[in-house]
Amino acid sequence: MSIEVSNVSRRFKGETAVNNVSFQAEKGEIVGLLGTSGCGKSTILRAIAGLDNGYEGTISVNGNPKRGTSKELGVIFQEPRLMPWLTVVDNVCFGLAGTKAENQIKAKKLLKVVGLEGFENYYPKQLSGGMAQRTAIARALVTEPDTLLLDEPFSALDAFTKLQLQDMVLDLWDSYQPTMIIVTHDIDEALSLCDRVVILKGQPGELYKNVQLNQPKPRSKADPELAKIKEEILYSLGLSRNTNEKIAKEA
Ligand SMILES: Nc1ncnc2c1ncn2[C@@H]1O[C@H](COP(=O)(O)OP(=O)(O)OP(=O)(O)O)[C@@H](O)[C@H]1O
Ligand SMILES: [Mg+2]
Repeated sequence: MSIEVSNVSRRFKGETAVNNVSFQAEKGEIVGLLGTSGCGKSTILRAIAGLDNGYEGTISVNGNPKRGTSKELGVIFQEPRLMPWLTVVDNVCFGLAGTKAENQIKAKKLLKVVGLEGFENYYPKQLSGGMAQRTAIARALVTEPDTLLLDEPFSALDAFTKLQLQDMVLDLWDSYQPTMIIVTHDIDEALSLCDRVVILKGQPGELYKNVQLNQPKPRSKADPELAKIKEEILYSLGLSRNTNEKIAKEA
């Protein structure tokens, strides 16, 4: 489904955390929300997920304004948030309607997709961070949500696991083309996964710019065009030192 965030602001006790942010995710698009810490990325994602209704502005799904959670929206948080007293498979099934047998079949199928075949009966404390996050991904997918909202899903993981799970996200997208909004502060992650990157800046966070990425996926990490875009993004976030002058001259 398509998601439209229009003029969304969020204040906490009179302090503005997000100021007048608007952007769209078209159906099947992978959109990155990129920005430095504290600029309001999670706040915006929670509003889209329906977990926070205290914002001003409008969030529309397929053109219809909405508030509140929906089964069509799957959320993957930065940390896995598994229930420690349930096994991997039961964590994935938790809260599902349907018979236990049916649910287990569904969950086991997804656990295979995320590379956890054979670990179904493990408890969360027996899992590595990457395995726990894979379980959380399977749990988000088990309701077959049309749209996935991911809040820095891989930021706690080592570089290798992160790359593997990023590839998994692309495979998932290939399998049914869900709309995805991925919060990240990892520019490489945004550049390898996203069709468009929405850059937020400042505190309160405001929309800075939209960067369209038309390169076919999977993308080479060595793509010179992407390297240039990365420098531009670093520059626009005030994080590039050596290329500031060069890009400023070209602009
Ligand atoms: N429930 C809350 N009550 C008060 N202030 C909040 C609340 N949630 C967020 N904020 C404030 O809103 C601002 C944005 O927070 P948010 O968590 O959205 O940032 P973020 O971009 O996700 O940062 P990070 O990359 O570190 O996760 C921060 O200044 C934060 O202190
Ligand atoms: Mg956050």
